[in-house]
Amino acid sequence: MKTKLEKNEALALLKKYNKEPFHILHGLTVGEVMRWYAGELGYGEDSDFWEIAGLLHDIDFEMYPEEHCTKAPELLREGGAEEELIHAVCSHGYGHRVDVKPEHEMEKVLYAVDELTGLIGAAAKMRPSKSCKDMEVSSLKKKFKDKRFAAGCSREIIAEGAEQLGWDLNKLMEMTIMAMRSCEDSVNRQMEEV
Ligand SMILES: [Fe+2]
Repeated sequence: MKTKLEKNEALALLKKYNKEPFHILHGLTVGEVMRWYAGELGYGEDSDFWEIAGLLHDIDFEMYPEEHCTKAPELLREGGAEEELIHAVCSHGYGHRVDVKPEHEMEKVLYAVDELTGLIGAAAKMRPSKSCKDMEVSSLKKKFKDKRFAAGCSREIIAEGAEQLGWDLNKLMEMTIMAMRSCEDSVNRQMEEV
């Protein structure tokens, strides 16, 4: 899987349609988490593609919330994205926004980590360290079960995502915490430049 979009081009495209720092943070985080998963799951050669798909997955959400995942193809095509990348982006709205099913393992990972990175980020903010580096799966599970906590992060989608991958929730949480630990500093550095 290859994309001709370089990271700086993809980031410029994301910023063209997203002004909220939180949305840039979310894109950068999901992108880096996807890159980590590519390496971990044996798709190292495709890690640029995995990252760009993560970075751009919510490109249309800020300006076109009602058309989330249906406006994205137009914005991405204009920006020079390949159809494969567009499919990946759209598939994270499967069953909720669009009928584009996650097929490739990359797409299933994107579907599973999108909401979960949000939950981990919100849980990290509550910690004295403000970091996920000292977060254990057990404490994340408590936040997962507490439906009032970060209510916007859909537990249903996270659970469906794990199921699509054929993983139990524990494995998904453990790996995603590891991914977020490894990219936390890098994402924070990139946010300073935003
Ligand atoms: Fe997202």
